[in-house]
Amino acid sequence: MPLNVDKGLGNTIAADTQLSFIDGAKGVLEYVGYDIDSLARNSTFEETTWLLWNGHLPCAGELTEFSKQLRSEYAVDARMLEVIRSIPRTAAPMDALRTLVSALAHFDSEADDGSTQANQRKAMRLVAKTPTLVANFNRWRKGKPIVQPDLSMSIAENFLWMLTGAKPTESMSRALDVCLVLHADHGLNASTFAARVTIATQSDMYSAATSAVGTLKGPLHGGANQEVMEMLLEIGDLSRVDEYIKSKLDRKERIMGFGHRVYKAYDPRATYLKTFAKQVATDTGNLSLYEMTRRIEEIVLAQPNIIEKGIFPNVDFYSATTYYSLGLDLDLFTCMFAASRMSGWTGHCIEQLAANKLIRPHADYTGPHGLTYQSIDERTEPVTSSTSPSVKGTMSVTA
Ligand code: CMC
Repeated sequence: MPLNVDKGLGNTIAADTQLSFIDGAKGVLEYVGYDIDSLARNSTFEETTWLLWNGHLPCAGELTEFSKQLRSEYAVDARMLEVIRSIPRTAAPMDALRTLVSALAHFDSEADDGSTQANQRKAMRLVAKTPTLVANFNRWRKGKPIVQPDLSMSIAENFLWMLTGAKPTESMSRALDVCLVLHADHGLNASTFAARVTIATQSDMYSAATSAVGTLKGPLHGGANQEVMEMLLEIGDLSRVDEYIKSKLDRKERIMGFGHRVYKAYDPRATYLKTFAKQVATDTGNLSLYEMTRRIEEIVLAQPNIIEKGIFPNVDFYSATTYYSLGLDLDLFTCMFAASRMSGWTGHCIEQLAANKLIRPHADYTGPHGLTYQSIDERTEPVTSSTSPSVKGTMSVTA
């Protein structure tokens, strides 16, 4: 069979899924057939997770039982606190989370049980415990005592409680809950693909989730929300937005929070978030930040050819000010994305295993052929070894 080169895999279908549907040209995202906008407005993260994992909305009894099960998994093994304390306080929270998600496996006797039932239980544990890990690490790095989870609270409410030690207001919990719903799944995005590649080798759920966290960290994927906020703080004031953004565009630099590999229309996750972000910013005295985002959007969308290229604000553009308004440190933003996407990652892992095939694409080899091996004595030294690497790059260890 002839093979096509498809760098970035943008024209390749590598899996079947029943979790989410994206029409990038029309700006549509559905979870199991439900429009993302209606889920963001009406659903909760717990209900959305059930939907993704079960393929239909739960009835009241099912949701109550599911929420109860999730809450019973909020706490982490006491030995995880030792792992947390072994991580440098200076570590980036996403790096800490990658380590901690991996470490969870050591305290789960079912870690290597590949049965569907065990994987469902592990999915539940991963979704329930990820916010606890993020909050615990944040308390540890700030030298504050750990706050134990409150099993009477939803995932969003409990996260804010564990983070601050104060009961959040209903509107704060709702704002975080909306962000969790919006980020829960998104087709075969890079981190979900990483999770599916890992689980497809018949590795375990914790390994798959660890691959996914590491993949999400990058600024072209989940790391963009933090960069959006850094940009807003660097700009500092509405009066400086025009000059800052225009000079960035003149230098052909990317504006973080704009563009998407799949969406060439307005990111449907940003539509509701945009109005919601305004409300949250107003309630928390951060309206000026929101006004800056609106002005940035106006400037970027007024650029020649930008709409033709399909560059619009994405979900990270408006989640950034929402997280900031909730009082989250900037480097926790991507961790919240991970806490939400954990439901999608684990759902995709179970789906992958139900009709598994090892994922193993090809590489187009572009190097030489037929070279004759020379013993090390016959090889000539490069002119200057460490300072002038060859075109391909020379790996060398220098003192
Ligand atoms: N600002 C300005 N121009 C842009 C941007 C941007 N953010 N993104 C893409 N472009 C331009 C790019 O310069 C190129 O122009 P030209 O054709 O003249 O060279 C054209 O659009 C196509 O760019 P591309 O890199 O081929 O597009 P891609 O599909 O590979 O990139 C992307 C998608 C998300 C990596 C990119 O849009 C980007 O770097 N955005 C900023 C980072 C960001 O916000 N990421 C979060 C994505 S949403 C969260 C998630 O779902 O992961």
